[in-house]
Amino acid sequence: MKFFVDTADVDAIRELNDLGMVDGVTTNPSLILKAGRDIAEVTREICDMVAGPVSAEVVAEKADDMIREGKHLAQIADNIAVKVPLTWDGLKACRALSDDGHMVNVTLCFSAAQAILAAKAGATFISPFIGRLDDIHLDGVDLIADIREIYDNYGYDTQILAASIRSVNHIVEVGKIGTDVITAPPAVIKAMAKHVLTDKGLEQFTADWAKTGQKIG
Ligand code: E4P
Repeated sequence: MKFFVDTADVDAIRELNDLGMVDGVTTNPSLILKAGRDIAEVTREICDMVAGPVSAEVVAEKADDMIREGKHLAQIADNIAVKVPLTWDGLKACRALSDDGHMVNVTLCFSAAQAILAAKAGATFISPFIGRLDDIHLDGVDLIADIREIYDNYGYDTQILAASIRSVNHIVEVGKIGTDVITAPPAVIKAMAKHVLTDKGLEQFTADWAKTGQKIG
């Protein structure tokens, strides 16, 4: 399973990247706002740090404008994946940018039907937003299973990038299904290390060790 980090916070990316855990990064306009940085500047900094794909999102609504913005973003670095929304115009932009040799991440996917169109349009990645589906009482994890089944049926090589991940359990569940990639906030990735029995066991070992009166080294 490839790990992308869903943030534009360079310090948080660096901490995980130094552990060799970052296979790529995803950003979006809301994450750029949260980082409070210029999009070109922060994206270049992330691309310099991370070897894998770094998604940068267009904001135009018409295909021609998305293509122009996408080409502009792609100039930032060789590892840019242009992120386009799953609209009809976004699919047109996906086809054009993909034909032009760019990686394309089709975002805001909420159905298997949409995911089929993205694969047909040459997307490198499809980003189904599982948390936002859960928010409206639908099952986001089920969507990943549906897309996996369909893509495998036809040998589509578009990678499934499970997005809008809100919990450790989301990562485990989509991993069981065989998602190609997950993108998650740094806090969720770090939460994967936590277990109540690990904390309890460590507390016990620390207390018992103190009683031995010994030192290591
Ligand atoms: C994916 O590329 C998006 O940036 C992200 O996963 C959205 O997550 P959210 O629904 O928590 O905002």
